Amino acid sequence: MNQTHENAPIDPAAIPQRKLASGTLMPAVGLGTFGSDHVTPAQVAEAVKGAAVVGYRHFDCASVYGNEVAVGASLEQIQRDGVKREELWITSKLWNDKHDDVIGSCRQSLEDLRLKYLDLYLVHWPFPNFHAPGCDVTSRSPDAKPYIHESYMKTWRQMEELVDMGLVRHIGTSNMTVPKLKLVLRDARIKPAVNEMELHPHFQQPELFKFVVENGIQPIGYCPIGSPGRPERDRTPEDTAPTEDPVIIEIARRHGVHPAAVCIKWAVQRGQTPIPFSVHNYRANLECVTRDPLTDEEMQAIATLDRNCRLIKGQVFLWKDGQTWEDLWDMSGEITPP
Ligand SMILES: NC(=O)c1ccc[n+]([C@@H]2O[C@H](COP(=O)([O-])OP(=O)(O)OC[C@H]3O[C@@H](n4cnc5c(N)ncnc54)[C@H](OP(=O)(O)O)[C@@H]3O)[C@@H](O)[C@H]2O)c1
Repeated sequence: MNQTHENAPIDPAAIPQRKLASGTLMPAVGLGTFGSDHVTPAQVAEAVKGAAVVGYRHFDCASVYGNEVAVGASLEQIQRDGVKREELWITSKLWNDKHDDVIGSCRQSLEDLRLKYLDLYLVHWPFPNFHAPGCDVTSRSPDAKPYIHESYMKTWRQMEELVDMGLVRHIGTSNMTVPKLKLVLRDARIKPAVNEMELHPHFQQPELFKFVVENGIQPIGYCPIGSPGRPERDRTPEDTAPTEDPVIIEIARRHGVHPAAVCIKWAVQRGQTPIPFSVHNYRANLECVTRDPLTDEEMQAIATLDRNCRLIKGQVFLWKDGQTWEDLWDMSGEITPP
């Protein structure tokens, strides 16, 4: 638990930063804010405040998390307590049923978060599909659509306009694949600064990781601990837990930290920006990247643990009968045809 006496701030200079293609720095660890249906907006907002006290400056928000109003009150409080706006890195995301109302959605997030601008705004998923929050993975929208590049670029043009308007500093993608990103990079006036993607020791996405890095796109890694608190609907019997991996447990024992901290150290040392969610352990998750790095041997041992185990499969985005979730991820290297 984050007890008061343990809350001495972590030296900001010790927290690694990522340099984006624009030259701007982004803290290399952020706090996730998706309460996974069981952590209330008030609890998340409390964690945001507490995390800022211990030294977090990067917060990963989204309209669909249903808590931007509560998080916004915390962000205002944090600034009232002396953290300057320019020291914060605030991300929000466009939800799937708003691909044709980017500017209105962004303005709503800005109002809810009580901000004049966002540091980063992401297209949350490349599929423009409505589905009810909290719906089961077997739920299908009758209006579900596949990825249609022309439609995505219409959305992206509005994302670019947000930058022109000064409402957001950077724009990025999330849940993309190499073939989709190739088209976006070809056609974008303002290229994605980041791609947010699932990344943890059991799902390392080496090909996509390499592609984004080579193309000047910073990888932000979600579910960095393997999302042990994710909703039941997002679990399948095949899923594995990186924090239960014997290799991770042994490395954690050696360093005297929780296996979750090993996942975060690995993420930062590999070069991605993890955004662990936590209402109880956020201090440990930031502190662990400021001291006692993993050795080269430990990094290599973790590199061999990849099980290609995607946890967030996205089944609700399937757009026609007879498909499996693999169709969403362009496994053949080509965009799955409509
Ligand atoms: N772009 C996207 O499509 C997308 C998709 C999914 C997630 N995300 C973002 O990524 C964030 C992180 O993903 P996630 O929340 O699914 O999973 P996660 O960060 O891998 O796991 C969070 C869980 O781990 C526990 N935990 C955290 N640190 C711990 C520690 N040091 N020791 C023990 N347990 C620890 C937390 O419990 P406690 O609260 O008890 O510490 C929580 O239950 C989300 O909050 C969201 O911001 C983005």
